Amino acid sequence: MKHTSMILLTAMLIAALMIFGCANANSVKEAGFRNDPGTEGKQRGKLEAGDDVSQNDISDERYNMQITDGKLGGVTPFENIPADEDRQIKDMKTILQEKMSKDYPEGQTKRDAHPKNLGCLQAEFIVEPDIPAELKVGLFAFPQTYPAWVRISSASGKIQSDKVKDLRGIGIKIMGVRGERYKTQNEEKETQDFILVSYPTMPLGTVNLFHDAVYYSIEWSPLVFFARLVVTGNFHIINELRKMRQNQTSPLDIRYWSTTPYLYGTDLVVKYSIIPTSNIKSVLPSKLTDHYLTDNMEKHLAEHEASFDFMIQRQKDPDRMPVEDAGVEWSEKESPFIKVASLRIPIQVFRTRERAELAEDLSFSPAHSLIEHRPIGGINRARVDIYRFLSEFRHKQNNKPLIEPRR
Ligand code: HEM
Repeated sequence: MKHTSMILLTAMLIAALMIFGCANANSVKEAGFRNDPGTEGKQRGKLEAGDDVSQNDISDERYNMQITDGKLGGVTPFENIPADEDRQIKDMKTILQEKMSKDYPEGQTKRDAHPKNLGCLQAEFIVEPDIPAELKVGLFAFPQTYPAWVRISSASGKIQSDKVKDLRGIGIKIMGVRGERYKTQNEEKETQDFILVSYPTMPLGTVNLFHDAVYYSIEWSPLVFFARLVVTGNFHIINELRKMRQNQTSPLDIRYWSTTPYLYGTDLVVKYSIIPTSNIKSVLPSKLTDHYLTDNMEKHLAEHEASFDFMIQRQKDPDRMPVEDAGVEWSEKESPFIKVASLRIPIQVFRTRERAELAEDLSFSPAHSLIEHRPIGGINRARVDIYRFLSEFRHKQNNKPLIEPRR
């Protein structure tokens, strides 16, 4: 008994050190954005009158799930909703909202996740002309170039130095996208968002696991959550959570994955990935600094554009490539990624007060989508609900309207 307790305690301590050894490093102020507005930022960053979308008519019903069974609250044939899911999602909304109220004074509320903006970049999303016929669907139906905003972030819930190893995120908001909309929690009218992170999976891949992480870490302590992972035989998740965090050379140099699945038309299920294709790469500084990731992007975009291939990976086998567990990596051998578009980030000045404000004002969500690219699977069902709820809360606390950029 004594022996078992010792092993458990040691495992908990190792787990805690692995995860929090980095996370508890000094917090720093957000990426030294300068006051000069920059020339280009002035034109692109401007939001037009009527862009407040707080009052947009939306339906909370999951009515567009009627694709298959015609009933409100139905599911696509690819999904399977566990009985307790709605309660767990509601629970997460309440816990995270309370945490945000405690973490930030009114008027200065940041995102609960990915609060550190590393750069808000103007971009173009270019749909490929030579897409296989069966993939010419929704946004990808015709070759076209769309304006986009990209927000690059660090995942940690607190704003900390870039020296601290972390997962990085990229939110791509494509504008001027016409077509039938996904209607659940989607207040935006003409956007298509793609949200990706710098790791192929979300190790907390089910609503149940994510809920446990939120509940035990916040209401008790992260140690209790890791102990729970250990005793439930999920030590590998702790290892994955550690592997996710890295010191990258630059957010423009690395690959990102959606980790969660999306519908593609009516019959296909896909995941997304973007792969860097720029001509240059940044160098990892010999001495890392608090804002080296933003510094490296600034240097890159001062003289060279950046680019990524936007790829989709089709689900080939529902067991080996599950929809309901984002913790399982879909084998690229079995289903290679196929390029369907490019993301082009032109030379620009982005470290401006105006861009920093835009990064705070924007809301990204898997729900901001055409019906053809609707989010599916448990983690996405949770995100659709939680992102809208917490983004509204964040904007309300900051006395700001929700906005939809038009260009
Ligand atoms: C149930 C699971 C998840 C929860 C509860 C959650 C929670 C959140 C929240 C609250 C935000 C801030 C929203 C806002 O205030 O605008 C956020 C942002 C973000 N999340 Fe998640 N998340 C989950 C899963 C994921 C997954 C699987 C990914 C992988 C792609 C991801 C990537 C991101 C990124 C990149 C952002 C920043 C978007 C931006 O720049 O605004 N999240 N998440």
